[in-house]
Amino acid sequence: MTSPVFTAGTAPGALPGAGHAWHLAYRPVDFLSSLHAHGDLVEIRLGPRRAHVLCHPELLHHVLTHDRAFDKEGAMFERLRDTVGNGVGTCPYADHRRQRRQVQPFFLPGQLAGHARVMEEEIDAWTSSWRPGQVLDVHPSVSRLGLRVAARAVIRADLDAAALETVERSFETVLGLMPRQLVLPPAMRRLPTRGNRRYRHAMRDLRALVDRVAAYRDDGAAPAGSLVDLLALGRSGADPAAMDGTQIQDQAVSMLLAGSETSATTLAWALVRLTRHPEAGERLRAEAGAVLGGRTARFGDLPRLPYTSRVLTETLRLHPPGWFFPRKVTTETTLAGRRLAPGTILLFSPLAVQYREDAFPRPRHFDPDRWHPDRDPAPPRNAYVTFGAGARGCPGRSFALNEACLALATLAGRWRFEAAPGTDVRPVPFHTGLRPRRLLLRLTAA
Ligand code: HEM
Repeated sequence: MTSPVFTAGTAPGALPGAGHAWHLAYRPVDFLSSLHAHGDLVEIRLGPRRAHVLCHPELLHHVLTHDRAFDKEGAMFERLRDTVGNGVGTCPYADHRRQRRQVQPFFLPGQLAGHARVMEEEIDAWTSSWRPGQVLDVHPSVSRLGLRVAARAVIRADLDAAALETVERSFETVLGLMPRQLVLPPAMRRLPTRGNRRYRHAMRDLRALVDRVAAYRDDGAAPAGSLVDLLALGRSGADPAAMDGTQIQDQAVSMLLAGSETSATTLAWALVRLTRHPEAGERLRAEAGAVLGGRTARFGDLPRLPYTSRVLTETLRLHPPGWFFPRKVTTETTLAGRRLAPGTILLFSPLAVQYREDAFPRPRHFDPDRWHPDRDPAPPRNAYVTFGAGARGCPGRSFALNEACLALATLAGRWRFEAAPGTDVRPVPFHTGLRPRRLLLRLTAA
């Protein structure tokens, strides 16, 4: 890419009243990936409000690495905190470094083998009943896998069947009702309507489960490596910064939200891509066949699955599960020649930079080998932002990539997938994750 002199522009196509909200809801990929044609910082309208989308990798990098000046503040974050709690992903700058230090041990490289054991067991259980000829409704199935892995890693590895069932039931309710909770004004969220009550009960059940596990670990029992274990163990010592029960619950809920659907959506899109690109499917199968010989992938296999890893990186470039993150300007600043007053809303979407021709030649083309270490030139460093950047970048990156790699290699080593009638891979409208509407795949033995 050439050295940046940033430009500002305005997105065309605003609709009366709604502005660009309709485009964001119904055609997010086409809309956001087209914006860079109008500038590096592009103004859009969401109903009566204005926001600015960051479309240049370096401009975005600047914003993401100055998280005090561009904070997680504003109406949406207030509602998020009120709805899911003040965890590491939702808290403002003022609380962030402390919270991030507290959860960081969970993500250390030394923990990854333990997390992978949970993943291997769940992948085994998930695929054990599959039969040739069966049609798999992919999204509900990968969502369940993603949630069970996240629940056992975050809450406790040996959660029993009843506890997992509570997590699955509560989480389904929370995810389904959350978009509505986020748009309702606080007073309406407190009314005793059926939806509000169901949401509150589901949250209460999740939090109670976290509390039970934390209380058990509180007595100084040896840590088993789950997030709740690690946080509760800090509490049993004399650490004055140790978390109280609500803070531990906030972190656990925040982590389940950040870490389950994202992994599920990654796997779903990787399978979509493989049905569309048979040559990539064959290479993947050859790699999985040579390394695994039909068994489930294990943590130690990961370094020998480089093509699987490139398929996932490329899938995540084209289909980033998190696609829309706001920031609020906290002190007056100038970006791309535009003066931005405190309170201005900026939007970060990987879609706005990862489809740029100058960063990724033939950007709509699925090409896992653009991530080959010998590819010259390599993709620009700051242009791949599927996991964010800076102090608020995703701490779960290795966790997520390991999970997706173990699952995809295991599946590719055993099965072929063919799209079945009824499949519709347009993204679900108004959804926090960019997931396909309906993905039905017929299985045949590899
Ligand atoms: C493919 C899967 C994933 C993707 C694409 C992804 C993407 C992201 C992105 C883009 C951010 C930054 C958001 C922002 O700057 O506003 C983020 C933050 C975060 N992610 Fe992930 N994530 C994934 C999986 C996970 C997993 C598995 C976990 C936990 C087990 C996790 C935990 C978090 C947390 C806690 C944050 C907030 C970090 C902070 O504010 O300090 N993520 N993720």
